[in-house]
Amino acid sequence: MEKKKVLSCIQPTGDIHYGNYFGAVKNWVDLQEQYDCIYGVVDYHAMTAPYNPIKLRQNTWELIFNLLAIGVKTENLFIQSLIPEHTELCWIFNCFTSYGQLQRMTQFKDKSSDTGKGEDGFISAGLLDYPVLQAADILVYRADFVPVGKDQEQHLELSRNIASRFNQQVGKDYFVLPETLFTETPKIRSTADPLRKMSKSAGEKHYISLFSEEARIRKQVKSAVTDTGETKAGEMSEGVDNLFTLLKASGKIDVHTSLMADFNAGALKYVDLKEAVGAALVDLSQQFAERKLAIMADKKNVKNQIKASSAEIRKRAQETLKEVKDLAGLINVKY
Ligand code: TRP
Repeated sequence: MEKKKVLSCIQPTGDIHYGNYFGAVKNWVDLQEQYDCIYGVVDYHAMTAPYNPIKLRQNTWELIFNLLAIGVKTENLFIQSLIPEHTELCWIFNCFTSYGQLQRMTQFKDKSSDTGKGEDGFISAGLLDYPVLQAADILVYRADFVPVGKDQEQHLELSRNIASRFNQQVGKDYFVLPETLFTETPKIRSTADPLRKMSKSAGEKHYISLFSEEARIRKQVKSAVTDTGETKAGEMSEGVDNLFTLLKASGKIDVHTSLMADFNAGALKYVDLKEAVGAALVDLSQQFAERKLAIMADKKNVKNQIKASSAEIRKRAQETLKEVKDLAGLINVKY
């Protein structure tokens, strides 16, 4: 039987932290065993808010190198702007998308609100159209499953609406309606403030980068907040819970079990827990760093490989576009 198709994409916004890794990217790596996976770095999406062109290109390659170092396979990885069919399908989809529905999208409302928009108040039409391009990313490969977090559920719903409307108007069940693939992934909190999630937007001390120096990782874990004030005796604070979550997610099950037994006996020393988490993350980061070093030593070649894999993946997108143009009443070069 043919494997089901999985597609997901990530915006090129600099480095990857342990929240992204355990919450999403590790899952991408694991899914490659079971599914036909395609993963994209979506640089067109990164243009929807004011940006710096030099940084955008740098971030795109940096993210590609990082994803490869973490274990995403070269042949599964593409760069969005190397596959023009995404934007071509986006235009066609624009004509099958309700303008009102786009205006009602939560992400658009947040980012175009007084607090969300930048200093000069500029809101691009690209920001409004963002989810239509996302629908094109997914449907151009006729993906069955899209592994994303809960925050993307509304965008997935819109993708299904667009697919249904297209199918209805052309009188054929052409597009598969893509489903969200919710995998149980641990939610990682900021070690500096365990009441909020680990994220880049909160500032440097709130996230632990996968590619940080060993000393920095250890220091960040060592200074993790364990007591948030509100916990009763015997209950676990968010901070301690977060450290246990990191330990388990890192695969150190034995250490996790033994320290948890200490906790339950009321005998846990936070230094021991922090020591264990620090060691676990440093272990992982060292593996990633080693692979990244090898990739960086062969940068030019790796870039060429990604261009080649994008060209290969593009063939699938071209097939879809040819069929879509036929169905939509547009002109194809060849029949
Ligand atoms: N909007 C997604 C995010 O911010 C990124 C994205 C763009 C995406 N295109 C996609 C995710 C297609 C899944 C499928 O995380």
